[in-house]
Amino acid sequence: MNCDRLAPYYETLERLAFGSCLEQMRFAFLGEVAGAERVILCGDGDGRFLAALLRANTRVQVDFVDLSGRMIEVAERRVVNMGPSLRERVRFFAGDVREFQPQAKGYDLIATHFFLDCFSQAEIAEVVARIGSWAAPGAQWIVSEFREAETLLGRVWTRAIIRGLYAAFRVSTGLRVTRLPNYAAALAQQGYSVRIEKTKLAGLLQSSLWELRAKRGVSRRDGLAEETREPVAIGT
Ligand SMILES: C[S@@+](CC[C@H](N)C(=O)[O-])C[C@H]1O[C@@H](n2cnc3c(N)ncnc32)[C@H](O)[C@@H]1O
Repeated sequence: MNCDRLAPYYETLERLAFGSCLEQMRFAFLGEVAGAERVILCGDGDGRFLAALLRANTRVQVDFVDLSGRMIEVAERRVVNMGPSLRERVRFFAGDVREFQPQAKGYDLIATHFFLDCFSQAEIAEVVARIGSWAAPGAQWIVSEFREAETLLGRVWTRAIIRGLYAAFRVSTGLRVTRLPNYAAALAQQGYSVRIEKTKLAGLLQSSLWELRAKRGVSRRDGLAEETREPVAIGT
């Protein structure tokens, strides 16, 4: 996938297609994560969530990883325009999240907006496990994604829109994925549970706030799934 060509027009195209709906999904939980101090944003694209997070939280330090150099340019320009003190709180890394090596682990917030859908079902568990391995105990993870609505009729039209979006991304970026992966199962497997969920456009869009409670593993002795408790620091 290469979003370089798309980067300068990404925001405009999104607004033409969905108005402010995707933006509302990205920003849905800014209030809940106001206390985050170390954050990693994976595939944040043109940096609109980054800018909102920096405005909302005056202490946060952010690592920003994206495959597209042009997306990073747009995101960095956005933050530079907000002033040097905000720019100092962000480190930009151009590259594949699957190869990224954080300088230090222990992020208390992970955010992936419309990013996990860039991976296939065969890839998603490994991607989520990798990103999840950088989290601090009790970390939060915000996920925004498209999804198929639950009713029969809803499923028909949401599926059609999702197929159309995948086709558009295939043409414009070379993305090979054609179906939404089951990221929820992958997060649960890593010990995350959903705290809050919001949907929009009759179920086509979903944003959810997950919290790391326990890691699920597989016992070598009997092959059964077992739960291993992580030290939890959750203020709920
Ligand atoms: C659909 S865009 C979403 C951008 C933004 N998060 C948003 O809310 O609109 C997906 C973004 O993920 C980036 N991306 C895709 N695969 C990636 C990977 N393996 N590692 C890092 N970034 C990746 C793309 O370059 C692009 O900026």
